[in-house]
Amino acid sequence: MRGTTVTPVTLVIGSTGKTGRRIVHRLAERGHPVRGGSRHLDPPFDWERPDTWRQALRGAESVYISYFPDLAAPGAPAAIEKLTACAVDEGVRRLVLLSGRGEANAQRCERIVGESGLSHTLIRTSWFSQNFSEGHLRDSVLDGVIALPAGEVAEPFVDVDDIADVAVAALTDDRHSGRLYELTGPRALTFHEAAAEIAKAADRPVEYVAVSPEVFHAAVAQSAGLDYADLLTDLCKEVFDGRNASVAHGVREALGREPRDFTDFCRTAAASGTWR
Ligand SMILES: NC(=O)c1ccc[n+]([C@@H]2O[C@H](COP(=O)([O-])OP(=O)(O)OC[C@H]3O[C@@H](n4cnc5c(N)ncnc54)[C@H](OP(=O)(O)O)[C@@H]3O)[C@@H](O)[C@H]2O)c1
Repeated sequence: MRGTTVTPVTLVIGSTGKTGRRIVHRLAERGHPVRGGSRHLDPPFDWERPDTWRQALRGAESVYISYFPDLAAPGAPAAIEKLTACAVDEGVRRLVLLSGRGEANAQRCERIVGESGLSHTLIRTSWFSQNFSEGHLRDSVLDGVIALPAGEVAEPFVDVDDIADVAVAALTDDRHSGRLYELTGPRALTFHEAAAEIAKAADRPVEYVAVSPEVFHAAVAQSAGLDYADLLTDLCKEVFDGRNASVAHGVREALGREPRDFTDFCRTAAASGTWR
C-alpha cells in the first residue's frame, strides 16, 4: 500500500494584514498548505479570545506571528507567552515572530519566543514604508499633511515585500532557525525627505509637519480613540529618539540580496493607485 505524504500546514496570524496577506500569497504560490489567522475565517483567530487559539494552531507545523495592535502594547508579552505555550502543546515545530526595532516590549516578546524550545526566527523591523500606502498614514498622505512627533529623526523605512520574503524563507527553511534578522531599508530618510519622495511619485502635495506628542495624541484620540492614541504616542516617544536611525542588514543576511529602496516603494505604491 502506498503511503500518502501530507505537507504540513503553516498558520499565518494576521493573514489579512500588510505582512500576512503577502506571506499567504507567496506560500500559496509555492504550493505550501496555508491557513489564515483572522477573526473572520473559520476557524477564527482572535487575540482577544484565547479560546480560539488552540483550534487555529491545531495541526500547524509552522506559525507566523504578527501581533495586533502592536508588540509595544502592554498586553503583548502575556499574550505571546500564552500563545507560545499553546503552540508547544499543539505540537507546532517552528515560530516566526514579527517584531519592532528599539521597542522594549517587543524585545520581551522576542525573548519569550526565543526561549520557547521551538525552532524560531525573529524578524525585527524598522517602520514599514507601507504605513504610508496601506496603513494609518495613508489618509495623511491623501490630506497632504503627515503630522508626527518624530522631529528631524531619520528612519530607514523597510518595504513590507522584503519582510514577507524573509518570513517565507524562515517559515520554509530550517537554515533560518535560531536567527534574529534586523530588517531595514537601504538608507535612512527624515520624514521631510520621505514626504517629498511620496509627493513626487504621487504627483500631489504632501508635507511632513513635526508636532509635539500632545498634539499628536489629541489628533489620534479624535480619529481612532484613546487607547490607540496612547499606544501610538508612547511608541513614537520610544522609538523616535534616533535609536533606530542606522541601517541594518537583515535582508542581505537572510536572502543574499539588497533591500528595496524607498523610491521603488513610492513608484510601486503610486502605480497601484492608492494615493489617487
Ligand atoms: N507598522 C510598522 O511600521 C511596524 C513596524 C515594526 C513592527 N510592526 C509590527 O507589525 C505588526 C502588525 O503587522 P501588520 O502591519 O502586517 O498587520 P496590519 O496590517 O496592522 O493588520 C492587522 C491584522 O491584525 C488582525 N487583527 C486585528 N484585530 C485582531 C484581533 N483582535 N485578533 C486577531 N487578529 C486581529 C487583522 O485581521 P482581521 O481583521 O482579519 O481579524 C489584520 O490581519 C504589529 O505587531 C507591529 O508590532 C509594525
